[in-house]
Amino acid sequence: MATPYAYFQKHVVPLEEAKIGVMTHAFNYGTAVFEGIRGNWNADEGVMYLFRVREHYERLRRSCRILKITLTESDDALCELTSRIVAKSGFREDVYVRPLAYKSSEAVGVRLHNLEDDVLIFLTPFGPYLDIEKGIRCGTSSWRRVDDTGIPARAKVTGIYVNSALAKTEAMENGYDEAIMLTSDGHVSEGSGENIFLVENGKLITPPVSDNILVGITRETAIRLAADELGLETVERSIDRSELYIADECFMTGTAAHVTAVLDVDHRPVGDGKPGAITTRLQRLYFDAQLGKLPKYRHWLTPVPIPAAEAAPSR
Ligand SMILES: Cc1ncc(COP(=O)(O)O)c(C=O)c1O
Repeated sequence: MATPYAYFQKHVVPLEEAKIGVMTHAFNYGTAVFEGIRGNWNADEGVMYLFRVREHYERLRRSCRILKITLTESDDALCELTSRIVAKSGFREDVYVRPLAYKSSEAVGVRLHNLEDDVLIFLTPFGPYLDIEKGIRCGTSSWRRVDDTGIPARAKVTGIYVNSALAKTEAMENGYDEAIMLTSDGHVSEGSGENIFLVENGKLITPPVSDNILVGITRETAIRLAADELGLETVERSIDRSELYIADECFMTGTAAHVTAVLDVDHRPVGDGKPGAITTRLQRLYFDAQLGKLPKYRHWLTPVPIPAAEAAPSR
């Protein structure tokens, strides 16, 4: 039977033993940064393919610099620990790995300095997050994306996700699947947990890193696959809200969301209201790359073989 393990306080322990105290600074003030890493299960090979693990730890380290969190573990050590807990947990299905670096002192007082730091990693089984088959319907949020002058969105700070949660719940309560957040000056920024792309006249368009986005690893993957496999250029520029209504295609990217077609924005169909041809081709390439089916992109993958558990002996 698969049992989740975690890396917690410098040890690999069963997940149920990884508990923090109620006074932990990060729990009280949102002073933590995190990552989400997909493990994609290839049942034919009996291998879990972790996607772009190193890039996630590099981004975690950049987030730490912004929040003044000292990471004592090297990127190599974090990658190795990730493979170790994935192997030890034994899940033979898709998983989501969550590294989290946090202000671990049990102390009252809002600040970033004079606090202890720690890092933990856990994982959980995790299937599709959005409807990758059919596509999704989006609504422009009344909540604006946090600005770099408030909390920098390029750092994946736990506290920022209140902004995302406000937008996501508003969108779902209004009958949409996902929110599209605008910057405070009204340009398209991103979804609650995804980057956004438009397709216009055979080119991809996506907001620049200066429009308060998390600089997505799936975003970079999509840009690379579009260029190298489909010969499509990506233009990074600010996008007006009304451009969403007239685009040929629209899709979102993210570790949880994969590449998901946006069918409708604010009750206006995107293109013909079906997943677009370029979106569909990119989605296929992305899934093939993730599962180790494209040799050219195997350097993005960390394979972790998970042998089938031995059958319990019969009495
Ligand atoms: C706000 C936000 N934007 C974009 C993304 C997509 O980033 P990535 O592709 O690295 O998962 C995420 C997911 O982590 C996110 O939370």
